[in-house]
Amino acid sequence: MTANFSQLRAMVFDAYGTLFDVGSAVAACDDMAPPQRTALAALWRDKQLQYTWLRGLQKRHAGFDQVTAEALDYALEATGLANPERRQRLLALYQTLTSYPEVPQALAALKARGLATAILSNGTPDMLRAAVEHAGIGHLLDHVLSVEEVGVFKPAPEVYQLAVDRLGLRREEIGFVSANGWDAYAASAFGFQVVWCNRAGQPVERLPGVPRHVIHSLAELPLLMAA
Ligand code: LAC
Repeated sequence: MTANFSQLRAMVFDAYGTLFDVGSAVAACDDMAPPQRTALAALWRDKQLQYTWLRGLQKRHAGFDQVTAEALDYALEATGLANPERRQRLLALYQTLTSYPEVPQALAALKARGLATAILSNGTPDMLRAAVEHAGIGHLLDHVLSVEEVGVFKPAPEVYQLAVDRLGLRREEIGFVSANGWDAYAASAFGFQVVWCNRAGQPVERLPGVPRHVIHSLAELPLLMAA
């Protein structure tokens, strides 16, 4: 599908996995062997997302910090890697995840084109503040929006509507970038113009929605906008 972003007024980004590398916390713990780290990181992320979806269905919302800790406890136990110091270290590292290297330049390029920039994330305001500060990208973001304002996780439509309401734009004037396929598809079904940053080269989702464009790194974003 060709890019046509002429009506865009803002570009909204998912945070975890898109701007911030969720694998970087486990990767920093070299007291575990590489295969253990890989298994722990994958299960932690899978459980974290499952818990957000399940809590949404149950209408039992909790902050993403709590869900992240509970998912970590599950993953540590399941992989036989549980120990209190490791748990504490990983949760601390999650507050200051490494951002992908191309992020500042991509955000700056969008702003130079006159677009507003924003984060729309499951993260709590405190988590997002810490991550943005650690990445040094606060000056490149016009809005940092947390699902805590609506009390439900993605992909509930209320979350995407939050961006519409807070940016004061029509859905089709909002671009949305996520590395999480399910998030990209849901945002597209909602009516945003979506770029799926498919970093991991995953298959297309069998879900409602069609991302307008697929890239593999945010470094491709400025070029795509110029096309
Ligand atoms: C977020 C999760 C989905 O940042 O990565 O909202």
